[in-house]
Amino acid sequence: MSHLTVGQYAILVFGAMSVYASFRCIYFTYFHPASKFPGPRIAAISNVWYAYHWITGKYPMAIENAFKKYGDVVRIAPNELKNIPPLSGIKSDSNLDIYGSHSKHIEKFLKADFISLGDGDQGITWEKDPIKHRHTAKKLSPAFSAKSIKAKESTIHKYVDLFVQKMKKIGQNEQGVELKIWTDWVSMDISAELSYSRELEQVEKMSSSAFLHALWGVNFFVNVHQILKKFPLSVPLQFLFVPPSALISELQARKLNRETLEWRIEHRGGLEHLDHVEQLLSAEAPPPTGQERKALEVVSGQLLIAGYLPVASQFLCTIMFGLQEPDIHRLLVREIRESFARYEDITAEALAPLKFLHGSIMETLRFTFVEGGGLPRVSPGAIVDGRYIEKGLQVQYGHFAFTRSPRYFHEPRSYRPQHWLPKDHPHWNAAFENDATSHYYPFGLGPRQCIGMELAWREMRIFVAKVLWSFDVEMVSDHKIVYERDFKMHRMWEKPEFWVRFHPVDRSD
Ligand code: HEM
Repeated sequence: MSHLTVGQYAILVFGAMSVYASFRCIYFTYFHPASKFPGPRIAAISNVWYAYHWITGKYPMAIENAFKKYGDVVRIAPNELKNIPPLSGIKSDSNLDIYGSHSKHIEKFLKADFISLGDGDQGITWEKDPIKHRHTAKKLSPAFSAKSIKAKESTIHKYVDLFVQKMKKIGQNEQGVELKIWTDWVSMDISAELSYSRELEQVEKMSSSAFLHALWGVNFFVNVHQILKKFPLSVPLQFLFVPPSALISELQARKLNRETLEWRIEHRGGLEHLDHVEQLLSAEAPPPTGQERKALEVVSGQLLIAGYLPVASQFLCTIMFGLQEPDIHRLLVREIRESFARYEDITAEALAPLKFLHGSIMETLRFTFVEGGGLPRVSPGAIVDGRYIEKGLQVQYGHFAFTRSPRYFHEPRSYRPQHWLPKDHPHWNAAFENDATSHYYPFGLGPRQCIGMELAWREMRIFVAKVLWSFDVEMVSDHKIVYERDFKMHRMWEKPEFWVRFHPVDRSD
């Protein structure tokens, strides 16, 4: 070999690579366990299709189109499938098969390596090991018991009331207020205080905290990190996608998180209000070790984000999409105002029987499915929706496509709380009778189901009801928001700005 010229070496290397690529294509197209499933050709042999659609921010919509073209199971990457159930005679629901199957709360389809950052402690949301996950989830669960959540309701009122007061002062300005950022502030303030008693004061100061800046500053970078997990050799390139300003604010946010936790550790057992971290920081136990502190940092950061992000979207979108359907908005406002003579009487318990409010929130959960990027799992070698999925293949439910399909929902692209009304409700409409409402799980299923579901319901009901009881909300312009056009999914849904005015309701007579 030593007598070969540089040119001959290059030909040799190129030849070897071509042979490897050809074998790889043949293997993935004809012999790989996923090869029996249809999908875009390029997705069968390369992760480029997956990467491209994520980068455009329209990945959920691309998946929806793929289902239309290829049927109920689509191969979206060489080793990854998406599935939605057929409507006629659902034998088994792929959603239940994938996420619901477990043995003593240990899931059978393990979480795929999708969103975790780094190799350290993985907290609760990123933890793939089901035993470790179960351990953390069990420790945290008392923080989300009915009793604990009821005790935490005052924190929700504190920030919603502050928001209402602020809007009484500035909500009638000619230019209006931008509701996306305000709902971010309210939701994140609630979440930070509930998670580990940190007061971010965004609503009070009417400005974003370092946490909020950092989170959105690194959204695209986190997305790139997730995509590059499918291209392991390119991982070092990920830092090209993070602007220095985002890196700085991320470092600041981590520092703040650490400092808050230190403060919280010092005050363990001595706080006025309950928070979630209380469950992990027993007052009697010795101060946590360095390793335990790191683990706490991860979990508290995850609780802060998991408790803020979807709730902020629900606050915004229930008002945003309701306002764009004036008849629907009117029905919701009427139900709330006719149910309460006094603002002080608006509590989560008193709101629970309101059917149109429930329907509106469920409809926002359908219309804006939070985990639009998907929830991939690794098959243990099992049947999903009547088909055998080989061990090791990644598989996930087509949540977003399900919410958009006329096979499952009448008028799926319109905002229609009527989907969720019971038959005896005066606004029930027979056109929605065959909707697949009982197959929709916006908070997930099984051992990894959202731990904060009940808390979220309280927050959503209280915010929407108190705001619509207090104000006539007016859109500043007739700018129509179209979900598919105006929302983008990177790691988190990027939402459009939405300007409104808040006119206090006159109850003087
Ligand atoms: C409208 C509001 C919310 C929605 C739609 C929502 C939805 C979800 C979904 C779909 C999952 C993933 C389930 C899976 O991986 O299979 C999840 C997980 C989780 N959520 Fe929520 N969530 C909401 C609010 C909250 C709140 C208020 C908290 C409070 C801290 C919270 C904490 C969590 C945590 C810790 C997990 C990880 C659970 C685990 O892996 O065991 N969520 N949520």
